[in-house]
Amino acid sequence: MTSSQLELLRPSTFIYKHSSGLQITSGLFSNKRANAFYKESPYGNTFSWKNMALMKKRSQKLRLFIDEHKHKITSPILEAGPCLHPLATPSDFPGSRIFYWEKDPYIIMALSAQFGKTINIVNIDFSSASVKQVQKLHKRRFEKLGLGQVSFGAIIASQVLNYIDYKKFLSLARALLNPGGLLFLNNGKNTGIYKLFSSKRPKTTLEIPTYLEAIGFEVVDWQIEQAYKKGKKGADGSFITLVARKI
Ligand SMILES: C[S@@+](CC[C@H](N)C(=O)[O-])C[C@H]1O[C@@H](n2cnc3c(N)ncnc32)[C@H](O)[C@@H]1O
Repeated sequence: MTSSQLELLRPSTFIYKHSSGLQITSGLFSNKRANAFYKESPYGNTFSWKNMALMKKRSQKLRLFIDEHKHKITSPILEAGPCLHPLATPSDFPGSRIFYWEKDPYIIMALSAQFGKTINIVNIDFSSASVKQVQKLHKRRFEKLGLGQVSFGAIIASQVLNYIDYKKFLSLARALLNPGGLLFLNNGKNTGIYKLFSSKRPKTTLEIPTYLEAIGFEVVDWQIEQAYKKGKKGADGSFITLVARKI
């Protein structure tokens, strides 16, 4: 990455005004910078700053759940796939150790530029990772931070399930949570960047809490809403937000 590309990734702010009158603020990019960023990004125009703003808006539904259960969240906290707008930041959780999992080098670069050493970014493909690989990847960082074994007090995964083998990921999340640890999730059925979808994504919205209960979570709080217009390619508009506790 060249220094001019790096410059593009330095934090700034833009406000996206939706036709509904809604304003969405991004902590990271001006419109110009965002467009330059995405020209270089593997996602190209599909993942434009406009889509990014809408994605961020949907992620805020999970923030409400996180805020409600904040008093039960213990460090360290893992957020899988935060993109450019994490839900767990050092200012949200002062004193907590925060880990981000991402595989996109552009996003990793941007998160580093924004948060520096206040967070821990792990370059990982969490669709295929095993518990053993995760432990190996985190062991040294955990030791350096004076944390014990590699496990988390809370895991956040907002709008990532469509892109991965979601059952494998939920089992991995369970294995990595402390007893009583919390998993915060949301997902829109067949909603997102269709060409990046995994064939192992959830096929229905209801199967997500059902699967969680089957593998040893208690679903503490959940909501399914009609969040979008019905779309092509099987998007029925349903969107689930939930918090589950490892039993
Ligand atoms: C649709 S975005 C969601 C971003 C944000 N959490 C939200 O709710 O708006 C999915 C994010 O997960 C990351 N991601 C998707 N699949 C991944 C994988 N297998 N391993 C690591 N990161 C992944 C992408 O790079 C992207 O940042």
